[in-house]
Amino acid sequence: MIVNQKHYTTIWLNENERSVSIIDQRKLPFEFSIESFTCCNQIRLAIKEMWVRGAPLIGVAAAYGVYLASIHAPENDLIPSIRNAAQKLLHARPTAINLKFAIHGSMEKICRENSKERVIQAALDYAENLRNQEIENCRMIGIHGLDLIKTQYKKTGKPVQILTHCNAGWLACVDYGTATAPIYMAHDEGIPVHVWVDETRPRNQGARLTAWELSQHGIPNTLIADNTGGHLMQHQMVDMVIVGTDRTTITGDVANKIGTYLKALAAKDNNIPFYVAAPSTSIDWSLTDGVKQIPIEKRDEKEVLLMEGINGNTVETIQISHSECKAVNYGFDVTPARLVTSLITERGICKANEEGISCLFPEKKSC
Ligand code: MRU
Repeated sequence: MIVNQKHYTTIWLNENERSVSIIDQRKLPFEFSIESFTCCNQIRLAIKEMWVRGAPLIGVAAAYGVYLASIHAPENDLIPSIRNAAQKLLHARPTAINLKFAIHGSMEKICRENSKERVIQAALDYAENLRNQEIENCRMIGIHGLDLIKTQYKKTGKPVQILTHCNAGWLACVDYGTATAPIYMAHDEGIPVHVWVDETRPRNQGARLTAWELSQHGIPNTLIADNTGGHLMQHQMVDMVIVGTDRTTITGDVANKIGTYLKALAAKDNNIPFYVAAPSTSIDWSLTDGVKQIPIEKRDEKEVLLMEGINGNTVETIQISHSECKAVNYGFDVTPARLVTSLITERGICKANEEGISCLFPEKKSC
C-alpha cells in the first residue's frame, strides 16, 4: 500500500531483527505514526488496545510476539517461559481465530527445537512465513473477487457500487486487505468502482481507516452512517456487499464487526449479493455453529460513550451522552451462512457451507 508516495505494509521486522514495527492505527487518519516493539508484552498490549487490529494482522503480530518472547526467554527455562508469554498473548482478543492459530502454529514449531538459537530461528521463520502467507492470501482473494466485480461491470457498464463494513483493508491485514483486495484490483484494471463505507460505530474503523486507505489509493468512496445501508439497498444504490471476517465456521457462519449481520439481512431482503472475503487463516475448522460457539468480544463501554475526533489541529475526546449513561459494547456479531452469498478465499469462491469450504480445502476436513 502506498502512503505519501511510499510503499508500506502494516508490520515488519527491523534490520536488527530484535524489534518489530507497526503503524499505530489508533491515531489514523489524523496522524501516521510508526511504533517499534521489542518484547511480547508490548505486542500483547498493542493487540488488546488496537494499535494493530483486523484478524490477519492480529495473527501476524502475535507470531512476532512469540518470536520476541523467544529472544528474551532464559535458556534454563526456555519453552515454559515462551509458553507463559504465549498464554497471555492468547487472551489479548477473543474473536479473531487468527490469533490462536498463529500462537499455536508458532509454539508447535518451537517445541520441536532443542537449543535457544534454533527456537529463536523457528519462531522467526514462522512469523515471516505467516506474514508472507497473509500477503499472498489477500492477493489471491483480490484475483478471485475481481471476477465478481468484472461480471457486474459487464452487466451494467456503470461504476460498480460496493458497500463495506468496518475495515477489512490493508490496514487489517499486511497488504491489499481481504474485502478491499478485489476493489483495489478492479480500480487498477480501470473498472470504475465506488465504495459506500459504513462508519462502523463505536470505534469508527470505516470512517477513520477504510475511507482513508481507499482515498490513499484513489478509490472513490463515500462515508455513510451505519444505519444507511438498508436505504441504499432499497434504492438500487448497492450492487454488492463485501466484508471481511474474524472467524468463519466450517459451516459458513461468519463473525465480523458488530453490525455486519444487519447488512446481511438487508442485502438478503433486497436480493443483493453479500460476499465475505475469508482467508483460510480466519476459518475455524473446529466450529459448526457460529452463533452458539464463536466467542464475541465485549469491550469497554467508554468506546460507546466517548468519541474521538480532530478539532483544528487537536485530537479531542468528547462525551456523547449524559454522565450517568450506561452502555454495552459487543465488538462482533455472527452472520448465519444462509445470508452469505459466497465466501471469497485464496483458493477461489465457494458457497458458505461445509461442502463448499471442504471442496477448496480438502486437507482440513478431518481437523
Ligand atoms: O475490531 P477490529 O477492528 O479488529 O475488527 C476488524 C473486523 O471486524 C474486520 O472486518 C475483520 O477483522 C476482517 S479483517 C480482514
